[in-house]
Amino acid sequence: MKNITAVILAAGAGTRMKSKIPKVIHQVCEKPMVQHVIDVAQELLAEKTIVVIGHGCEKVKEAISDNVEFILQKEQLGTGHAVIQTQHDLPDEGHVLLLYGDTPLITSETIKELISYHEEGDFAATILTAHVNDPTGYGRIARDHSDRVVKIVEHKDANEEEKEITEINSGIYCYDAKLLKQSLSKLDNNNTQNEYYITDVVEILNKESYKVGAYKIEDETEIMGVNSRIQLAKAEEVMRRRILNNLMQEGVTIIDPNNTYIDKEVKIGEDTIIYPGVIIKGNTQIGEDCIIGHNCRIENSMIKNNVKIQSSTIVDSIVDDDCTIGPYAYLRPNSKLGKAVKIGDFVEVKNATIGDRSKASHLSYIGDAEIGKEVNIGCGVVFVNYDGKNKHKTVVKDHAFVGSNTNLVAPITVEEYGYIATGSTITKDVPEGSLSVARGKQKNIAGWVERKGVLKKD
Ligand code: UD1
Ligand code: CA
Repeated sequence: MKNITAVILAAGAGTRMKSKIPKVIHQVCEKPMVQHVIDVAQELLAEKTIVVIGHGCEKVKEAISDNVEFILQKEQLGTGHAVIQTQHDLPDEGHVLLLYGDTPLITSETIKELISYHEEGDFAATILTAHVNDPTGYGRIARDHSDRVVKIVEHKDANEEEKEITEINSGIYCYDAKLLKQSLSKLDNNNTQNEYYITDVVEILNKESYKVGAYKIEDETEIMGVNSRIQLAKAEEVMRRRILNNLMQEGVTIIDPNNTYIDKEVKIGEDTIIYPGVIIKGNTQIGEDCIIGHNCRIENSMIKNNVKIQSSTIVDSIVDDDCTIGPYAYLRPNSKLGKAVKIGDFVEVKNATIGDRSKASHLSYIGDAEIGKEVNIGCGVVFVNYDGKNKHKTVVKDHAFVGSNTNLVAPITVEEYGYIATGSTITKDVPEGSLSVARGKQKNIAGWVERKGVLKKD
């Protein structure tokens, strides 16, 4: 295959979106739609990826990865005008692959087929096309009586007969670099929209007796252009289903694919079961045989094997094998659980390491802590890590027992086998193997109730 230079158009405003932000950075499955297109170009190992930006260019630059070249199109005078801005950065030979930033569902497999078709047919340009049920809004592929592609007619410029054509232009093309550059200088804006259309290159090449190919694909969803919020939701649905289908093919059970939201980069092992209402985002990996119960949200986290999570939120954290979490637990950034740790209901963990087989079964806050192995954190324990100015660390060593409703006022260390009586507010280190009691002593005053007359005695 020859060298590929990818050009992605992303300068338009996208007025039909009715939005303050540029259309191409509206997200599909948590990623700007133009980024999906850039990813495809990069999967194809394009030598160079040029992104043409204009409307809201700063916002577009900020939203996308920086391994691309940006070219500014100051005024948006049409797709042809956008490509003209790149002409000095285009090579003199090889393929120029042109894509629009508003077709996020395209796959690199399809583009590879397009390029092979282009090379085998020795075409000057090849258009990716499809037959669609409703061609409204798309450019139509006009062919002559011998079925040769002669031109592309925009919907707004089409006559009644041309509007009947159901083969449409996807906006994805492979050109011979040299012939594209030659044709750019011949574009004009003699059309209904007074725009320079890149689609006119087809007619220009045809008039000069160059062959233009059309590679027709079956799955029209891949080339769906997103121009409105309704199409954005449709693209989201298609991409989401594609991600879930891949996971299911790899052995993950997804109970209700209509109600499960998983990002493209997420990896999940065999025999893991995902319940409805689950959201898994970013750079997350989940191992085998896990149960991710309903309404969990997991972001940028590593969950190893055989972990059971119910209705909980886990962000930027690591959970080792055989842990159980929730319901209603919250693992905030930098929580690290060892093997077979139990984090029960209404337990919040932040910036804390918890050793193998330790438990915090109910209603606790564990912040800025290092907890050893086989430690028991009773119900309602609070790691008092903040003095209003600074955060301080708590260390609880192996086999310690922290009684219910204890406050551990950091900085503090509980040594191995330290044992804290329930209801204590601990402000001094607990030595190895000792019992610490830090609460008011109980006093019983006989006959007090009757003397004071606070409660009536029958
Ligand atoms: C375009 C095609 C149409 C095709 C359809 C497929 C043209 C003239 N028409 O129509 O044949 O069927 O896509 O989805 O190409 N852009 C710029 N600068 C501009 C204008 C547009 O960068 O001056 C970018 C937009 O940001 C967008 C892309 O080009 O990503 C396509 O523009 P859009 O206005 O959506 O074209 P369509 O009317 O959909
Ligand atoms: Ca479009």
